[in-house]
Amino acid sequence: MSLLSGSLTLRSAPKVTPEEFTALREFIYGLTGIDIPAQRQYLIENRLGPRLGELHIPSFGEYLKYLKFSREKDAELKQLFELITTNETSLFRDTKQLEVVRDKLLAPLLESLEKSGKKELRIWSAGCSSGEEPYTLAIMLHELLRVKLMSWRIDIMAHDLSPAMIAKAQAGVYGEYSFKTTPPDILDRYFTKRPEGFEIKANVKRLVRFATLNLNDQAAVKALPRSHIVFCRNVIIYFDTEMKKKVLSGFYDNLVPGGHLVLGHAETIHGVSRVFTPVHHPGGIVYKREG
Ligand SMILES: C[S@@+](CC[C@H](N)C(=O)[O-])C[C@H]1O[C@@H](n2cnc3c(N)ncnc32)[C@H](O)[C@@H]1O
Repeated sequence: MSLLSGSLTLRSAPKVTPEEFTALREFIYGLTGIDIPAQRQYLIENRLGPRLGELHIPSFGEYLKYLKFSREKDAELKQLFELITTNETSLFRDTKQLEVVRDKLLAPLLESLEKSGKKELRIWSAGCSSGEEPYTLAIMLHELLRVKLMSWRIDIMAHDLSPAMIAKAQAGVYGEYSFKTTPPDILDRYFTKRPEGFEIKANVKRLVRFATLNLNDQAAVKALPRSHIVFCRNVIIYFDTEMKKKVLSGFYDNLVPGGHLVLGHAETIHGVSRVFTPVHHPGGIVYKREG
């Protein structure tokens, strides 16, 4: 039964015409800054095609009208964001880079803040997907501060474009895939086994505040409180140069003087922005906002 309906959906899935592709691409780019290159046209068909089937919409042109003008457009935009974003993530992703973060950024920062008598730390995880990255940072802070954590005000702001990802992050329950690079003792100490997966413990969860936010929305970005460290790993690869520049300038303004930006280990801002000072460590580069 389901096979039959699956094949019917497949047979009736429309092809995107070049004009429709250009119009959808521009619409998505205008809203989110996500740039779908021409050679990835199949992404539109593969990801949005089934949605057209569900809605009984016969063409991508009609779908675009639905996104722009229908009464359901706001709800449909949320669906669109979910379908077009790539949300791959995991806890303790890129261990080598996280060692740099722990030893070269977090440990000295905590020490200098403590010395100055201001035990307040803010970190921003921009493009946090389902929450594994900010929870990793919260666990690292627990590991570094131990009982002293009680005397700190720690605020990890975590944002994503996709409301579905933010809902998953807020639930804080993960399957085994999310733990592929997590040390077993961390899993034991910071998660509780539930029938649906492993749930993050409340003492970690309370350090993280999740919300939807579009990095293309400059007013929303400007309104955020300032951070000591901005994490934006594996997000700007989906943006073109213009959007990268916009987002990097938002991060620069958000950081306190002397603060750091951490990108994905394979990402670079070389040739895009010169406002940050790259600081090279054996496990990866971090970018400093000078004072
Ligand atoms: C591949 S995930 C990276 C998750 C995490 N930072 C990591 O490295 O594991 C990229 C995330 O960026 C988010 N994203 C893409 N464009 C965005 C935008 N304009 N504003 C906010 N988030 C965005 C996507 O929804 C997705 O969850």
